[in-house]
Amino acid sequence: MRLLLSFVLLSLGLLASADPALSAYRVHERRGHTPTGWSYNRKHDSSAVIPLRFALKQNNIDSIGDYLMEVSHPESTEYGKHWSAGDVFKKFSPSAETIGAVRAWLEESGFDSSRAKLTRNRGWIEVQVTVEEAERLLQTEYHVYGHETGQEHVACDSYHLPEHVQPHIDFVTPTVHFDTKVFKRSGSDPAEGVGRAIGQPGSGAHPKTTGEIQTLLNELENCDEQITPICLRALYGLVYEPLAASKNSFGIVEYTPQAYLQSDLDMFHSYFNDSLVGVAPYMVSIDGGYAQTEYTGFDYNGESDLDLEYGMNLVTAKQQVTLYQAGDMVEGASFNNFLDAIDGTYCTYDGGDDPTQDGVYPDPYGGGYEGPEDCGTATPANVISTSYAYNEADLTPFYTARQCSEYAKLGLMGVTVLYSSGDYGVAGNGGECLTANGTYSLNGTIFNPSFPGTCPYITSVGATQVNPNSTVLEPEGACEQVIYSGGGFSNYFAMPEYQKTAVEYYLTNYYPQYPADIWNSTGMSRGFPDIAANGANYVVAIDGEFELVYGTSCSSPVSGAILTMVNDARLAVGKSPIGFINPTIYSSSFAGVFNDITMGGNQGCGTAGYTAVPGWDPVTGLGTPNFPKLVASWLLLP
Ligand SMILES: *[C@@H]1O[C@H](CO)[C@@H](O)[C@H](O)[C@H]1NC(C)=O
Ligand SMILES: *[C@@H]1O[C@H](CO)[C@@H](O)[C@H](O)[C@H]1NC(C)=O
Ligand SMILES: *[C@@H]1O[C@H](CO)[C@@H](O)[C@H](O)[C@H]1NC(C)=O
Ligand SMILES: *[C@@H]1O[C@H](CO)[C@@H](O)[C@H](O)[C@H]1NC(C)=O
Ligand SMILES: *[C@@H]1O[C@H](CO)[C@@H](O)[C@H](O)[C@H]1NC(C)=O
Repeated sequence: MRLLLSFVLLSLGLLASADPALSAYRVHERRGHTPTGWSYNRKHDSSAVIPLRFALKQNNIDSIGDYLMEVSHPESTEYGKHWSAGDVFKKFSPSAETIGAVRAWLEESGFDSSRAKLTRNRGWIEVQVTVEEAERLLQTEYHVYGHETGQEHVACDSYHLPEHVQPHIDFVTPTVHFDTKVFKRSGSDPAEGVGRAIGQPGSGAHPKTTGEIQTLLNELENCDEQITPICLRALYGLVYEPLAASKNSFGIVEYTPQAYLQSDLDMFHSYFNDSLVGVAPYMVSIDGGYAQTEYTGFDYNGESDLDLEYGMNLVTAKQQVTLYQAGDMVEGASFNNFLDAIDGTYCTYDGGDDPTQDGVYPDPYGGGYEGPEDCGTATPANVISTSYAYNEADLTPFYTARQCSEYAKLGLMGVTVLYSSGDYGVAGNGGECLTANGTYSLNGTIFNPSFPGTCPYITSVGATQVNPNSTVLEPEGACEQVIYSGGGFSNYFAMPEYQKTAVEYYLTNYYPQYPADIWNSTGMSRGFPDIAANGANYVVAIDGEFELVYGTSCSSPVSGAILTMVNDARLAVGKSPIGFINPTIYSSSFAGVFNDITMGGNQGCGTAGYTAVPGWDPVTGLGTPNFPKLVASWLLLP
């Protein structure tokens, strides 16, 4: 019976792919609104030529979570047996069936194989078409939109694919995607546009400062007023000298024009650990990235100085820190550009990228980096910390799903990927919340989760504080000074198996009393953050003075440094790096190794947000690291 059924289904499938008329067109992607700053200009010229690109569905990609669990779950016999880059490529490269199905459909639609080109990494099929052809092929209409700066962008509101082709295509560009960069060129201030797109990493997601410190207090009694390395070491029990530094690596990602100043690092280290004075991070330039010194001040140096000063101090002078400096001053870079550089199989069409989302190299407009896009040219570090984030709603579900799978691939290869969870509580970057029609507004009332925080294959890091008038010996609370820890529930990603017990416990015992239409109350979606670390009152040397800094931007590199020291302890005894940590840290064998945070909340969108409670919560996750317990528990694993 089953054989017969599959035979019938197979025949139907063959029939359907042989005759596109039998396969109905379905909406593949749809955009709800025109983003702020843009307005409709005109219908696009039907004879204009556009490069249509089809992102092919990767083979076995629906099982990537299972493969990742095999090497990351502490009870798995394969724990720690990470894959090589070659294994990853072989497993997920789009199948011959997928490539054939898309080619066949294009051919039936009048685009013969000489026009439809498969990229070298087999990830994409590209075909140059007129707007008229694209409109027929995708059953859509192309429009030209104008930005208030005068820049134009080509997009459609939705597009369709035949049902039998849909399973083989992730998405098509250019279509509904609207995260185009807004360029301001020639002599303008980079803060106002160059290298920054709507929702580009960094927009509205910088750490905050309350300004210059009058009297520096480097004493354990004052950690409620000023955080310095001794406070963090005391809070998290981090007393450790690396033993296996040459085998280990810790990477911090920065996006130009954000850059560090060596003089700031030296100023910081001369106060907090002499042995680091004069030490520079090992810089890996991606797409022309460099530590620019043309623009300085908190907005340009705050993030990089913070990340490197604390990252370097906590792993000590013995462990080199890798700085991935991504993007030039003109095109900038996105998370995708960074991922292209550390995994060549992720690159889009031969060396290029998706120009509606990502920096394009060589810079097509001149004035920027003239070299080729970095594609598989950089080595991923064992732990990679990034303190930038989008709003999940900035991006389409397909785009986020593709990027999220890439993080799973890094996990398969043994990389721990950390992202700060955002600084606006349940609101998105800049404090904006969603409205019923999907736009953002400061008056919006719908919670606005961050991405990649909601990707189930990264570790999202929230922020805590030493409560006012408390010491490092007392429990921390959720950060409620200047910033609020990003957290909540995804609208795109389902709840991963590894966090079910923890999140269901939270939802059963502390169900948030908000109307179901302002948060994802389905109980089925990914909750974040996963962990937290202090994010208030950091003493950071910036542009020649000590400033007080706040943000999950502090929490991510600090957590990264602590996990790097855990890796050191494992590498020193011949074990693998910890890789993707979520299945481990949520498992029963790790119960109690994080300091549970049970005070404070993450207000936003005109509400008090969620509340930190016993167990996991969407404010501080499982809690803050306890280094001695983490090392002991991780050394027990194979
Ligand atoms: C500075 O770093 C060195 C090398 O890791 C360490 O032995 C020393 O204790 C540190 N000094 C301070 C003041 O933290
Ligand atoms: C969306 O809703 C907001 C407030 O509810 C309104 O101000 C805005 O004009 C709407 N935008 C669109 C494109 O409908
Ligand atoms: C938000 O609400 C205030 C007061 O109701 C109003 O003045 C303001 O224009 C609104 N802002 C936006 C962006 O809708
Ligand atoms: C902390 O102590 C100071 C001085 O005793 C007091 O003025 C302040 O109100 C206290 N703050 C809190 C939050 O208890
Ligand atoms: C809630 O999350 C689930 C899974 O992530 C998703 O399928 C659903 O569409 C979301 N609901 C809303 C209202 O966005």
